[in-house]
Amino acid sequence: WHSSGTYSVFDQKGGSCGATMRFRPESQDPANAGLDVARNFLEPIKAKFPKISYSDLWTLAGCVAIEEMGGPKIDWRPGRIDAKCKHCCPPVGRLPDASRNADHLRAVFYRMGMSDKEIVALSGAHVLGRCHADRSGYDGPWVRSPTTFSNEYFKKLYDTQWTIREWKGPLQYENPEKDLMMLPTDLELIRDPIFAEISKVYAEDEKAFFKDFSAAFKKLIEL
Ligand code: HEM
Repeated sequence: WHSSGTYSVFDQKGGSCGATMRFRPESQDPANAGLDVARNFLEPIKAKFPKISYSDLWTLAGCVAIEEMGGPKIDWRPGRIDAKCKHCCPPVGRLPDASRNADHLRAVFYRMGMSDKEIVALSGAHVLGRCHADRSGYDGPWVRSPTTFSNEYFKKLYDTQWTIREWKGPLQYENPEKDLMMLPTDLELIRDPIFAEISKVYAEDEKAFFKDFSAAFKKLIEL
């Protein structure tokens, strides 16, 4: 998603096509800290199948990972061409900042051409994985089953009492058991009235979430 989420409808720069995260400055964008692990993980596949472009490989890997973890099928299409050098990198700083609010999310995602519904649907990917204190500075997983794709993230947003974690790191929220977390931007999805209405639908209807996520993710990886 970080290779795609740099796209701007205003200058048509960024996006998945090009796989420019191989180059500086994009590879050094603090928002991409730790993604070298994912890129390196795919290197043996690229070595075995050199004809596939990095940009097709990265987006395909995302779709396969989601599907393998129980998520919806995503209608992936090939055809992305890799950029040759760093001069094709989009400006650094286009990815969202987790310490900000709903206005910021709208500014970043509208710049990609995404709608409020697509912002909320895509954010449901935070059911997967975790935050790493040595990468983003944030710490912990969003749910207790972080390798299963489901609507659990939205359920947790609604059925948990989130309070500010007292620690030396950046502002983040924790559950009463202190084993799960939410970012400030995550909580905007139940604080902003328009986002909250959409989050509620996804918390109650996993099928609706899967359908909208699949369509939004396809759009994202084709930016
Ligand atoms: C809405 C704005 C978003 C913000 C502010 C945000 C922020 C973050 C942050 C701070 C982390 C922790 C990184 C680390 O410490 O390793 C993270 C992880 C993650 N994000 Fe997001 N994110 C956003 C949207 C998305 C979207 C749209 C997707 C995918 C469609 C996504 C998928 C993930 C995944 C899967 C992880 C876990 C990575 C891992 O386990 O290493 N995020 N995000």
